Amino acid sequence: MNTFEVFKLFPIAIESAKGLELTNTEGKKYLDLYGGHGVISIGHSQPDYVKRITEQIQKIGFYSNSVRIPFQEELAQKLQKISGYSDYKLFLVNSGAEANENALKLASFYTNRSKVIAFRKAFHGRTSLAVAVTDSPAIQAPINKTDNVLWAELNDIESVKKVMNGDVAAVIIEGIQGVGGVKIPTTEFLTNLRELCTKNGSLLIIDEIQSGYGRTGKFFAHQHSGVKADIISLAKGIANGFPVGAIMINPEIPAKFGMLGTTFGGNHLGCAAALATVDVMLKNNYVENAAKMGEYIFGKLKGHKAIKDLRGKGLMVGIETVADAAEIRNKLLFDEHIFTGFSGGVNTIRLIPPLCITEKEIDRFVEAFDKVTK
Ligand SMILES: Cc1ncc(COP(=O)(O)O)c(C=O)c1O
Repeated sequence: MNTFEVFKLFPIAIESAKGLELTNTEGKKYLDLYGGHGVISIGHSQPDYVKRITEQIQKIGFYSNSVRIPFQEELAQKLQKISGYSDYKLFLVNSGAEANENALKLASFYTNRSKVIAFRKAFHGRTSLAVAVTDSPAIQAPINKTDNVLWAELNDIESVKKVMNGDVAAVIIEGIQGVGGVKIPTTEFLTNLRELCTKNGSLLIIDEIQSGYGRTGKFFAHQHSGVKADIISLAKGIANGFPVGAIMINPEIPAKFGMLGTTFGGNHLGCAAALATVDVMLKNNYVENAAKMGEYIFGKLKGHKAIKDLRGKGLMVGIETVADAAEIRNKLLFDEHIFTGFSGGVNTIRLIPPLCITEKEIDRFVEAFDKVTK
């Protein structure tokens, strides 16, 4: 049997990794400034993380949500402390799309409404509701198309007001648009959006799957604006590569038995991975490191003649280049052995490296960027 080819692949097979260094099957080393789609938060094969998962699998890897899994409560308590959302509830799933699927479903249950407002250039995942609120018709099958989604423009509150109505259950917005090219909602826009949602009885769902978990130098990107969401969706960095997703839920939204559910979500092994990740983050002050290293990299790249526009916060960096970004990215990978991300529509290279990155690794990137853009 062959694999079902839905991704255009680089001809590179990774065999092992440590920190930000990837090694391929021929022993060639690469610097990882992409973290496999922004997933690796505390570095590859982090020793405490490996130890915790190894010990956990020797005891029990999985049992379903028909029993109490105390690790879920431990994780909820840790997240309460670190996230600034002290009284929210936690529901654990397995991926980002599943987190958004549940966030939207929950908003619809709670409000008894069926419409949702989403933004142009948004990406929220590939399952049914998540892809319906993703602004990419090419990845929506006919079965995903629905008139329940109303579209507005990012940073244009009038465009939201135009479509807001009494049947809107929620507005869903990324903390910072990632796939769309690192586009930041302004503080003024988010503040107005929060107000509008409250006035209309609609929930504000903030998708922090890519921009959250410390990446921007605060636990969530939207916290730079001082607004509060009703539901926050998480995945990617939460368990450093183990598939875990989650939603954090305003305590005013009551849980009812059976309204949400999952077989694998919140299992022992996933929780161990997530707990190890959060502990390592706290122990090493990686949220602060993201802020510091973000300042460092933005300082280094600001005013670079090969850059048309530099966007982002902390370690979520969008570099819109003057020349073809795809070509630059290929040169970075094949000539300089550096993995980066890419947003095609806006000719932008995306850096979403592990939060443990150092100045030395940033210097290596900047040197390579200089070289390939000469
Ligand atoms: C903002 C955002 N939301 C949701 C998703 C979907 O996450 P997953 O691929 O884990 O389903 C992604 C993935 O790139 C994302 O960047």
